[in-house]
Amino acid sequence: MRWWKTYGAVSLALVLVLVTAACGANSDSESGGGDGEQVTIVYARGKDDTGSTQELVKAFEKKHPNIKVKFKEMPTDTGTSHDQYVTMLSAQSSEIDVMDVDVIWPAEFAQAGYLQDLDRFIQRDNIDMSQYIPGAVEAGNYNGKQWAMPKFIDAGLLYYRKDIVKEPPKTWDELIEVAKKQKGKKGTKSGFVMQAAQYEGLVCNFIEFAGAYGGRILDDKGNVVINSPGTVKGLEKMIEVVKSGAVPGNILAIKEPETHTMYKEGESVLARNWPYMFSILQNPDESKVVDQVGVAPLPKGDKASTAALGGWMMGINKYSKNKEAAWEFVKFVTGPEGQKISALYSHSPTYLPTYDDPEVQKANPLYADENFVKGVSAAIPRPVSPEYPKISEIIQVEVSNALSGKVSAKEAVKNMEQQLKDVVK
Ligand code: GLC
Repeated sequence: MRWWKTYGAVSLALVLVLVTAACGANSDSESGGGDGEQVTIVYARGKDDTGSTQELVKAFEKKHPNIKVKFKEMPTDTGTSHDQYVTMLSAQSSEIDVMDVDVIWPAEFAQAGYLQDLDRFIQRDNIDMSQYIPGAVEAGNYNGKQWAMPKFIDAGLLYYRKDIVKEPPKTWDELIEVAKKQKGKKGTKSGFVMQAAQYEGLVCNFIEFAGAYGGRILDDKGNVVINSPGTVKGLEKMIEVVKSGAVPGNILAIKEPETHTMYKEGESVLARNWPYMFSILQNPDESKVVDQVGVAPLPKGDKASTAALGGWMMGINKYSKNKEAAWEFVKFVTGPEGQKISALYSHSPTYLPTYDDPEVQKANPLYADENFVKGVSAAIPRPVSPEYPKISEIIQVEVSNALSGKVSAKEAVKNMEQQLKDVVK
């Protein structure tokens, strides 16, 4: 399968500088988990629809009988989760010890002093960071320090029903055509579904459309370059998809959970989502489309096929009273054993050797394709900035206004440019 070769547009910088400077961990980072002492750590992450968390915790506790992991479920929506973490951590709460951190948070959280930097742990335990996907490591690196360990990497994918379309559409124009034509086949209600609600996922979907036509938000030096014909074309195509009549009527309210729920019920021919959806679709207990779904790169525009880079990392609360035990858990989940468990639930590993494991390859054929790793590594990151929440908010509001017809694509892009220039200086 060579399709992944065509994937990818803008490469991430592949250079990781692991700073070996003194780490400045608090003295309380020593406590917890040592010498058989019983410790309970609280691990926070968003709702897990794949079942991987339970398995990870079970395997970890078996290996570390002196550490119990209590799971604290956070909201699924990354933005809502983010706001709750900020409330907790800005009050210096020690309620949680370990948390999953979206790739867009480390810069902000590090700057705000919410996270424990991990360099000393990484060096002490000889973690070989060169074994991880560089872009995933880089997402947790800010001001020369590593603030979070990469847990899984995400890139937008096109899902298609193999029993309805022989070949996945290769361009966004083709996608619109196929979605219109095939809608209704085999009990489907729509031709295509993506995430177009006003939230973080909209930013990812927008980046993919813009990138397909050559549009970017910032250039490599961090300058705002959003106002380009490529971005306008991309947003116009996104509007065309939303108005095509081939997407669900409530497309402007759809996030990831609605997407996978519809898709596993067999309600759509095509879908845009992250890799995790594959494991849900292959689970006979909940899916009506087991073995009927193929995965492909997102369609091209007139420039490229682009995927947004997403993913989650693990960080330790700066105010945790159990940093040693917390690190043991982070090390386990992001190490070989944890990465394999995650991969069996379609959370794409960041630890590269996991891709070579035959069991992992069997569970998700994507992982057997070396071009998948290349594709993920070429996905487009969102701007790395402590001001990311403001950047995201601007994009969410304007793209949403364009999709609901309040402003034209041109106006939305111009508005974004003006507002982003105030934030990104
Ligand atoms: C996925 C991605 C994350 C992104 C989110 C948007 O969880 O991994 O990076 O921010 O989707 O909804």
